[in-house]
Amino acid sequence: MAFATRNFVRAAASSAAATAAAKKLVVKHVTVIGGGLMGAGIAQVAAASGHTVVLVDQSDEILKKSTKGIEESLKRVTKKKFADKPEAGAEFIEKTLKNLTTSTDAVAVVHSTDLVIEAIVENQEIKNELFKRLDKFAPEHTIFASNTSSLQITQLANSTTRQDRFGGLHFFNPVPMMKLVEVIKTPMTSQKTFESLVDFSKAVGKSPVSCKDTPGFIVNRLLVPYMMEAVRLFERGDASKEDIDVAMKLGAGYPMGPFELLDYVGLDTSKYIIDGWHSLEPNNPLFAPSPLLNKLVEEKKLGKKTGEGFYKYK
Ligand code: NAI
Repeated sequence: MAFATRNFVRAAASSAAATAAAKKLVVKHVTVIGGGLMGAGIAQVAAASGHTVVLVDQSDEILKKSTKGIEESLKRVTKKKFADKPEAGAEFIEKTLKNLTTSTDAVAVVHSTDLVIEAIVENQEIKNELFKRLDKFAPEHTIFASNTSSLQITQLANSTTRQDRFGGLHFFNPVPMMKLVEVIKTPMTSQKTFESLVDFSKAVGKSPVSCKDTPGFIVNRLLVPYMMEAVRLFERGDASKEDIDVAMKLGAGYPMGPFELLDYVGLDTSKYIIDGWHSLEPNNPLFAPSPLLNKLVEEKKLGKKTGEGFYKYK
């Protein structure tokens, strides 16, 4: 009996140790790499929710622009959130900006970070090179995450030695407004890492959904083929782009029609995504390239950002 009790106590102790080892990581310090559209937004929501954040980019000039953008965005958020309490609003902005610093040296800042979120240019080689370099300097416990829209998280994780502490955190544009985050689990992502990323997403005020490492995850996997199908409908001359947009807004209740959305996202981005998927699955008709989309991109008509895409904005 005594033997059985001793064994039970020992087993309980070792299971408690295992539980402690498997405890989720509570993220306090975040490094966001890439201070562009997405990275600045991610840094903003992380700092606003009490995390210590370092935002990294290639030059002080870019970082100045990112910080200015964050300050302006915070003012907009505060105007709404603290409409009747301007003092509380000013305090919120001050606290948020206190949580945020910038750097041009990723290696120098990752030594004390719990979570690295990468939001740099959508290029597999450049991202791999960055993760490989940071892997050598980040602490053992640090989780790496990529905000990529179209690359495989598994391939990025494979550039490091911490595949179990690697996942996808796919935010949506504009980050301060959009509530969704897709948390991507590769076959190597540990449950502890996955749960830590889910908790972090909730901590920054978002609603996380989970998805395997499959092209486009959930939203883009449904949205991009839908937009391409709209282009094909127009290319065949079955309906005008204006009527397709009206139809989807009034008939399906979508806030934007597919052509308005393509222009907003950027035609180059959409072409890049569909070309990548087409090369992965050349026989999938949903991923077939569109001659019209290719022509507009060739003419540098990339959508709202260039003043013309499917529509003119000048
Ligand atoms: P962006 O072009 O606005 O910003 C990228 C930033 O990364 C630039 O400021 C650039 O200077 C910086 N950068 C490039 N290489 C770097 C390096 N080695 N080290 C440090 N900084 C570096 O791009 P955006 O739109 O913010 O996209 C970033 C990532 O987020 C991409 O992977 C994209 O696929 C993804 N994404 C984009 C969305 C969008 O709507 N734009 C939505 C969801 C994800």
